[in-house]
Amino acid sequence: MSHYEHHVFFCCHQKADGRNCCNKHGASGAQAYAKERVAGLPLKERQVRVNKAGCLGRCDEGPLLVIYPEAVWYRYADTNDVDEIIREHLGHGRVVERLRI
Ligand code: FES
Repeated sequence: MSHYEHHVFFCCHQKADGRNCCNKHGASGAQAYAKERVAGLPLKERQVRVNKAGCLGRCDEGPLLVIYPEAVWYRYADTNDVDEIIREHLGHGRVVERLRI
């Protein structure tokens, strides 16, 4: 059995050479936002871990995150999208198809 109900990985990679990367699109801020939001949820929903990850290899599709154990990938544009992923996927177990990649 997994220690966490859900494990969320935000790619926060910054490429030094200026090439496209998730952190160019605010990934570190989005990860910090998500971590704070999840910490404020009721106990059951706090069985969620929100981590920073290095490059996940889909740089031109970012900014992105992946949620395990389902292995569902999302591209988000802003904190409204992050809120929707937290509410729907983590809160209700419903994949947010419009953001799925
Ligand atoms: S920089 Fe995010 S997937 Fe590569």
